[in-house]
Amino acid sequence: MENNVLEQVSSYIYNRFSHDATGHDFYHMRRVAKMAKRLALLEGGDPFISELAGWLHDTQDPKLTENLSEAKQEVMDLFEYCQISLEEQEQILVAMEAVSFKTGHRIPRSLEGKVVQDADRLDAIGAIGIARAFSYGGAKGQALHSETSEETTIRHFYDKLLQIQGLLNTPSAMEIGQKRHDFLETYLHEFYEEWM
Ligand code: ADP
Ligand code: NI
Repeated sequence: MENNVLEQVSSYIYNRFSHDATGHDFYHMRRVAKMAKRLALLEGGDPFISELAGWLHDTQDPKLTENLSEAKQEVMDLFEYCQISLEEQEQILVAMEAVSFKTGHRIPRSLEGKVVQDADRLDAIGAIGIARAFSYGGAKGQALHSETSEETTIRHFYDKLLQIQGLLNTPSAMEIGQKRHDFLETYLHEFYEEWM
């Protein structure tokens, strides 16, 4: 039953996000879902709720949807189609809510919300985080780096990526994050050395 639901949800996400070029493609959703499940198992949260909320975490992001109420209705229809109980629906929605607030450093209300937020943030650092940042920068036509004070992708490292380790909720995410954070520092060091 749970596997069936996860399959339905992932194929919904596949159809919805397969054409995204803003760093929110299907594989971002899959990594966040898998990482949320892994963190939930380590932290004693509900792995099923966390994984589902991970798959769905970006479905109600205003910047990724033209019609927010339609996007919300689609998720409700999916819940109904998958016969997810009302209690579980509520838990999933609670776990998704803090992720959608990009700028507000909101602390999620549930442990499942904490692991989903952590999983989303972990995907913005480390090797994949760096790739996503340059991909986003390329899509926006932003320079890699600049010696004046422009918006650049290297600047995004300081504005956001290097802050992430300090914003994680759970000890398990902090442990995984440390390696990724160190990798950002190593990367920047090499970058400046090559820049000359
Ligand atoms: P979220 O999925 O948390 O809403 P964003 O939409 O802010 O995140 O970012 C999606 C991806 O694009 C992330 O990997 C993020 O680091 C990257 N990104 C966002 N803004 C910039 C920017 N100004 N320059 C480079 N990368 C960015
Ligand atoms: Ni995301």
